[in-house]
Amino acid sequence: MTGRSSTCLAILAELKRRCHETVSGNELAAALGISRTAVWKHIRTLQSRGYQIESQRKRGYRLKAWSHSLRPEEVIPLLRTRCFGRTYEYHETIESTNDRAMDLARTGAPHGTVVVAEEQTAGRGRLRRPWVSLRGLGLYLSVILRPELPPRYGHETTLTASLALARSLRDLYGLPARIKWPNDILISGKKVAGILTEMHSDPDRIQFVVVGVGVNVLHSSMDLPSDTLYPATSLALERERLGAQPSGEEPWAWSRPHVLAGFLNTWEELDEIYMAQGLQALREDLIAVSAVIGKVVRVQVSERILEGVARDLTDRGALVLDMEGGRRETVWVGDILHLREVQQDAPEPSSS
Ligand code: BTN
Repeated sequence: MTGRSSTCLAILAELKRRCHETVSGNELAAALGISRTAVWKHIRTLQSRGYQIESQRKRGYRLKAWSHSLRPEEVIPLLRTRCFGRTYEYHETIESTNDRAMDLARTGAPHGTVVVAEEQTAGRGRLRRPWVSLRGLGLYLSVILRPELPPRYGHETTLTASLALARSLRDLYGLPARIKWPNDILISGKKVAGILTEMHSDPDRIQFVVVGVGVNVLHSSMDLPSDTLYPATSLALERERLGAQPSGEEPWAWSRPHVLAGFLNTWEELDEIYMAQGLQALREDLIAVSAVIGKVVRVQVSERILEGVARDLTDRGALVLDMEGGRRETVWVGDILHLREVQQDAPEPSSS
């Protein structure tokens, strides 16, 4: 980091810390050991980057609005991680963060590398669906993981990421987020986030996994796609609807950099548990926040469509389905096309 940008960061940190007051140029200059003119130049730089800083003659400067920018200077100071986000690549616009992360991983980018964009022009979802990625509204990120595991365990990284996202939204924002196995996050039955995992492996060992995550953060209902399998929602819409409160008091807690950092902090913690103890250590949590366990689900598994009651998750994250006629199926990879409550008056498939 250059001296110039680290001074900008220090000024920003001070204005954030004292966000309810006007901070004089003299105070900033004395605290940083620079001249008032230098302070003014740094403020101009910050303003040109989109920070709304009010400048009052003779009084000083006040940060008026929280930045939603995902630039490294906004996100990295909020991280409590060892690896996740310590290599951080930021793009104003990109075709797809997953494509970029796959390229970086092929050339040796380390475990925990994060690629973030303000906008994607060719964002991809599962089953070749497009992922609409409007500028400045959502989180569009991909994380490179290098678990030392056989390829058959690759799907478990998706479940770990889903649990981290659901848990960070629940714990930090009080939102009732649930996992629609294995890769969607729902709030009150509407999709707020999706995960697309891509993997490169040798026959017996994963080389790398790229976990791409799209979260609807600031979208109004007009910004959300209407032609999706599940109705979509955003954190902003759910916050307003549910009157949810973040755990702290800070007014910037709902900003995109905070949502991203909270997620990465939680994810690294869970990834470490997963790598040390395996997915069974997360199984109970996965079941507790599942949107599907106990529901009737219709699942697409390659060319087949299965319908049954989602009864359980195995230690390795597979979905256990009780089908009509008492047959039991274990599904390792699939897409849930539909889910509904079990009707009390209808005979349930046997659970034996
Ligand atoms: C889905 O729900 O089908 C998965 C959506 C995944 C979207 C994210 S946005 C960041 C990353 N880059 C992409 O092109 N896709 C993923």
